[in-house]
Order: sequence, then structure tokens, then C-alpha cells
Amino acid sequence: MTDSTAIIRLRGLRLERGGRVVLRDLDLEIARGEVVAVFGPSGSGKSTLLSALTGELAPSAGSVEVLDRPVPAAGRALLDLRKGLGVLLQGNGLLTDLTAAENVALPLRTHTDLPAPVIARLVDMKLHAVGLRAAADAFPRELSGGMARRVALARALALDPPLMLYDEPLTGLDPIACGVVMSLVRRLNDTLGLTSVVVTHHVHETLPVADRAVVIADGRLVFSGTPAELQASSDPLIRQFLDGQPDGPIPFDNSTFAGAVSASAQDAA
Ligand SMILES: Nc1ncnc2c1ncn2[C@@H]1O[C@H](COP(=O)(O)OP(=O)(O)OP(=O)(O)O)[C@@H](O)[C@H]1O
Ligand SMILES: [Mg+2]
Repeated sequence: MTDSTAIIRLRGLRLERGGRVVLRDLDLEIARGEVVAVFGPSGSGKSTLLSALTGELAPSAGSVEVLDRPVPAAGRALLDLRKGLGVLLQGNGLLTDLTAAENVALPLRTHTDLPAPVIARLVDMKLHAVGLRAAADAFPRELSGGMARRVALARALALDPPLMLYDEPLTGLDPIACGVVMSLVRRLNDTLGLTSVVVTHHVHETLPVADRAVVIADGRLVFSGTPAELQASSDPLIRQFLDGQPDGPIPFDNSTFAGAVSASAQDAA
């Protein structure tokens, strides 16, 4: 991967929450066009990492570059950067009193002054992209969980962002809906020329569509490589995570056993 193709560049990144260091010494580059899966135990800092990419959380050390510029701390520059980010957060965040089409139109109404017929056409295209044109006039309560997730995906795509950030896009979905959503993530990435970062616990559903996997544990990046390399890893920390073993280097309670994880994470690094 060359520098010029990187769409995300993290150097020596340290992130703190409530005075506690969540991630440290994190170096990571994500190239344009990649679908990168971010794995790690609950509380390891996956969502925190995304909040650094959106500028919601400023680093306490190191640098964060997204879309070829350092993430601004605040102001108009930050708002401009965010227009280039399609974000699908944990849960859908759909407005229940708006139809699917109105939900997708919302970012276009808020951030552009396009005339209504143009917005309607764009909304139609986005719903078509997620296979839900027929559901345009449905309210969120009338949709299945998987359909609602796809509407939220269409809304995240509304402003044609080059970079998509997903936080647990599969939570609460059945295996079939998981497959539909993940293959959509891949297909949209390729057909629209996007880059996608997918934070998830769903290793087995996500690996098949990912170009690269990274694992964070005990506040560090402990793995970065292809899905095949991840699956071939003999590192006990990685194996526990992949095989879902209850006991292993990743303890049930992160805080109580922080020392134990720290030791194995250092072996892995
Ligand atoms: N707003 C906050 N204030 C204080 N601490 C926080 C805040 N948000 C997260 N944390 C802490 O930061 C750590 C990382 O949290 P984060 O939400 O990034 O984990 P995660 O990997 O996304 O977990 P999950 O898989 O459960 O979503 C946790 O210890 C959490 O308690
Ligand atoms: Mg999270």
C-alpha cells in the first residue's frame, strides 16, 4: 500500500475516554477501495476508534488523517469533512415518524439546497441501491430489522460519501439478513468506488467480504492482515477470538484481568 492511496492514516494514535487510555501507539493505514474489518472484544475501543475518525473524539497523542487531511478539531472544516463520511452507527437511528424515503432524504434536505424533484430522484436511486425501492413509503415499524438496516445504509449513502464507517451493522439481525447486509456492504463498496471500515463482532459473516482484518485488544492493534492470514493465525489471543472460546488470553472481564491480556498482547505484537 502506498501513501498516496491511503484514505485513512493513523500515526502513533492515543485515545482516552474519561481520563483512561483506551487505545495507544496505534499505526494504521487504510487504502482507497478496501473493505477493512475491525475486530476486538467488547470494550476494546472499536467504537472509540470510529469516533476519532469522525472527529468526535480528539486524540491525546498522534495524528488522524481522513480523506487527505488531518481531522479538524471543530468548526466548519469538521462539518465539511463529515459530509465525506457515511456513518452507520450501532442501531439504525431511523426517525420513526418519517417514511423510509423521508429518512433517506433527510441528509440531502439538511446539507444541500437541491430542488425537491432532484432529491426525490436521488432518494429513489439510494433505495434502489439497497434493493428497497418498493419500501419507499413504509414507516420503520413496518420494516423487518434487516430492511430497516438497509434503509439506514441508504441514508448513510445519501450524500455520496467516499468513506463508509459501520459500527456493528449486523447487531440483532438473523443469519440471512446478516448475509444480505454484508454482501451489500461489499457490492456498494465496489460499484460506488467507496472505502469501508466495518467494526463488528460477526467475524464469520464479515471475513468473506473483507480485504483485510485488523484486531484490537488491550488498547493496541494486535493483528493486521488478510482474512486468510487471520484464520491461519496460531496466536492464542487471535484463536480465542476467532473460535469464540470462553477462556483464553482475552478474559471475560477486561478490567480485572488487564495485566494478563497485556502480557499476551505484547507477545502478539
Ligand atoms: N463516553 C465515554 N466515557 C467514558 N468512557 C467511555 C466512553 N465511551 C467508551 N468508554 C470506555 O472506553 C472503552 C472502549 O469503549 P468502546 O465503546 O470503544 O468499545 P467497543 O470495542 O466499541 O465495545 P463494544 O464491542 O461493546 O461495542 C470502554 O472501556 C468504555 O467503557
Ligand atoms: Mg462499540
